[in-house]
Amino acid sequence: MGTLEIFIKNKDVKYKIRIEKGAQKELYEYVAERYGGKKAAVITDNNVNKLYGASLYKGLIESGVKCRIISIIPGEKSKTLGVLADIYKELTDFNINKGDIIIAFGGGVVGDLAGFAASTYLRGVPYIQLPTTLLAQVDSSIGGKTAVDLPMGKNLVGSFYHPEIVFIDTLYINTLEERYLRDGMAEVIKYGCIKNKRLFDRLMNYRNLKQCVSDMDELVYSCCSIKKAVVEADERDTGERLILNFGHTLGHAVEQYYNYEKYTHGEAVAMGISEITKRSELLGLTEKGSSAAITEALEKYGLPFRIPAADKKELAKAISLDKKFKGNSIGIVLLSRLGAAFVKEIKGEEVEDFIWGEVPE
Ligand SMILES: NC(=O)c1ccc[n+]([C@@H]2O[C@H](COP(=O)([O-])OP(=O)(O)OC[C@H]3O[C@@H](n4cnc5c(N)ncnc54)[C@H](O)[C@@H]3O)[C@@H](O)[C@H]2O)c1
Repeated sequence: MGTLEIFIKNKDVKYKIRIEKGAQKELYEYVAERYGGKKAAVITDNNVNKLYGASLYKGLIESGVKCRIISIIPGEKSKTLGVLADIYKELTDFNINKGDIIIAFGGGVVGDLAGFAASTYLRGVPYIQLPTTLLAQVDSSIGGKTAVDLPMGKNLVGSFYHPEIVFIDTLYINTLEERYLRDGMAEVIKYGCIKNKRLFDRLMNYRNLKQCVSDMDELVYSCCSIKKAVVEADERDTGERLILNFGHTLGHAVEQYYNYEKYTHGEAVAMGISEITKRSELLGLTEKGSSAAITEALEKYGLPFRIPAADKKELAKAISLDKKFKGNSIGIVLLSRLGAAFVKEIKGEEVEDFIWGEVPE
């Protein structure tokens, strides 16, 4: 399969997502043309650096840029103001200016952190996304949301800042630990649920994860196309874009309840989409059979679908800290049927009852 391209057009920005195997070569050509003689600061993590850092460094140097690799400790625990300050220091030492380029090379943690560094350093330095996890390829590298966590909660400080271009190479996912591959599959299933029943059916028809991976360019293309449509309709995350948060309200609460240690983001989202659909089906808001189909899909891709016994009051408290709260209500994303989502506004004090209360006769 050749190159697949998607163009994102917002009010102020326009950029391209290129999906192809061997995208690094395209990146070198792009950088040589626009940044020859300038500097490229690659922000990555130690796992990605160990696997791919040397070859990226060599390729960038051969493209005629001066290059520095800034590598952080892998994982969510690095998405902090402290690590951000270390990155600013490295950017200053390397003397990066607004005519240079930052490259976010890694999963969603690196993408969010490097994107936020790029958006704030010198009030904005251009950056490129080169995502290496499935989750980053189908979700976090597109849409321009950048963030760091605070001790009080996830993604509490951030900005909207779009990359100049996104290069997606699905060959990177071959070295992912299987848990992270399945993690990304939770988001792929989510896209099918909210917008594209054909995508959902396609996922159900693969024999196994291996067969699904062999089709990954097209699957990533489908997911990115959905994200494009939703993000273009609602750049600032106030309306339509909320549907991308299907399963996330409960998912974030589970992640927080277990201190971000027990479950990955995708696993928590998987539980969230399954539990909320089971509930909305019981409440008569979702077409019957949707919940069973979602459970089957999650099971097929080795994802959890039931929230383990947890203190519901504590989970409800975690939901009350969700950034999506506006005033005293939160928009919970539900399916009317597979492939179609809507947002239901629920008052803060009614959340617990909506999710766990008695089902009316
Ligand atoms: N900005 C957004 O719109 C958005 C959307 C969804 C999620 N996110 C954020 O994304 C983050 C999660 O991202 P993630 O799941 O990619 O986690 P991650 O960045 O921590 O990557 C997961 C693990 O995979 C390793 N890894 C990355 N690429 C690899 C490769 N090719 N081969 C082998 N190992 C590799 C990493 O070192 C890490 O250990 C969260 O912080 C979440 O908030 C942001």
